Amino acid sequence: MPEKVIVKHLYKVYGSHPERALAMLRAGQSKDQILAQTGMVVGVTDANFVVNEGEIFVLMGLSGSGKSTLIRLLNRLVEPSHGQVFLSGQDIAALPKKALIELRRKDLAMVFQSFALLPHLSVLQNTAFGLEVAGVDRKTRERRAMEVLDQVGLRSFAQQMPAALSGGMQQRVGLARALAVNPSLMLMDEAFSALDPLKRTEMQGLLLQLQQEQQRTIVFVSHDLDEAFRIGDRIAIMEGGRIVQVGTPDEILRNPSDAYVRAFFKGVDVKKYLLAKDVARTDDTLVIMPSADARTDMAQALERLRHTGRQHAFVVDGDGRLRGAVSVDTLLRGLDSGATSLDALYLDGLHAVPATLSLRSLMGRIVQHTQPLPVVDAQQRYLGAVTQTVLLQKMVEMDADKDAREAADE
Ligand SMILES: Nc1ncnc2c1ncn2[C@@H]1O[C@H](COP(=O)(O)OP(=O)(O)O)[C@@H](O)[C@H]1O
Ligand SMILES: [Mg+2]
Repeated sequence: MPEKVIVKHLYKVYGSHPERALAMLRAGQSKDQILAQTGMVVGVTDANFVVNEGEIFVLMGLSGSGKSTLIRLLNRLVEPSHGQVFLSGQDIAALPKKALIELRRKDLAMVFQSFALLPHLSVLQNTAFGLEVAGVDRKTRERRAMEVLDQVGLRSFAQQMPAALSGGMQQRVGLARALAVNPSLMLMDEAFSALDPLKRTEMQGLLLQLQQEQQRTIVFVSHDLDEAFRIGDRIAIMEGGRIVQVGTPDEILRNPSDAYVRAFFKGVDVKKYLLAKDVARTDDTLVIMPSADARTDMAQALERLRHTGRQHAFVVDGDGRLRGAVSVDTLLRGLDSGATSLDALYLDGLHAVPATLSLRSLMGRIVQHTQPLPVVDAQQRYLGAVTQTVLLQKMVEMDADKDAREAADE
């Protein structure tokens, strides 16, 4: 995966003599000591990380831990005191002011907690606003705005004024406005934090759905573990201006780096954060890609099923998309009847599981199915299969992890 953002030894000190504070930091003094002695506030200390193309990277931490400072350093809304930020390989510190403004307009959309809609403009005009500023002609920008309003489910509200919309809907407009410019990087600072829990979950779902349709690179700030784990491909946990751990939700859950990180998980039900794709396995189930010769395919599939003692196989096309499932019985019948394509042999009622289905919902489905369930991505590509046994094993593992974590806390 290409790297979209590279951050190297990045520092931000708020105050009149940042270089003095930097020297103190290097000498091992703490944020509190520096504040007490100089009155300067250390916002971010020695941040190093990479954001890959197409991932949602979450900055999580308590209030005051430096999340907003760090995300604003990425588009230079905050000037760094030291260190570097590379966007698509370009050092943003080297950009002249004008080029920087241009970049922010066209390529780095930001969504804040407050919706910041312009009250005198319609929903459509608000959505098209970024494009208007970027000099896109009216017809083109309104067409594009309708397109994204459709994506966020607000097509029929295009002509309304913002005041007529609920908070949740206003934030959808904020999101649509950011999406409209088709930025290569989206920066979202507590974008859903002002919403009530229900609306918030709904917006997270919408973001994930949009992400399935088109993978964008997103840096998302949140103080909320639920949110971070639901939407983050990787998470950086911040404490007192410092990044204390970076990893996937699974990695962080399994190996919290210290007590601060562990404290976030107290009383958290891990099953909520794992998705079908996290437990899908490719080694348990036979997958067949049909050739031009259905008879040979059937015979080979039967042979391999018998050899491994399995009953079922999935059939995928050349692009890896799931076509159906066959069993020993249907294959035998196919051979008997001289079927010329596997397509005629598929079992009824194949239930493909979306990759982003939560483990909880998956458990509900799997109790009704003794056969492996195929897991597919948004393009219906086969990712692996889940069986009752695999799921059960995973849950036992997780409970053991949880016990270990709690034991470590005592
Ligand atoms: N403009 C500013 N001037 C001085 N101190 C600031 C400024 N903005 C943020 N800070 C301080 O920097 C630290 C990090 O703040 P911030 O990045 O807003 O954290 P978060 O977003 O995680 O709540 C805090 O101690 C905060 O008080
Ligand atoms: Mg903040």
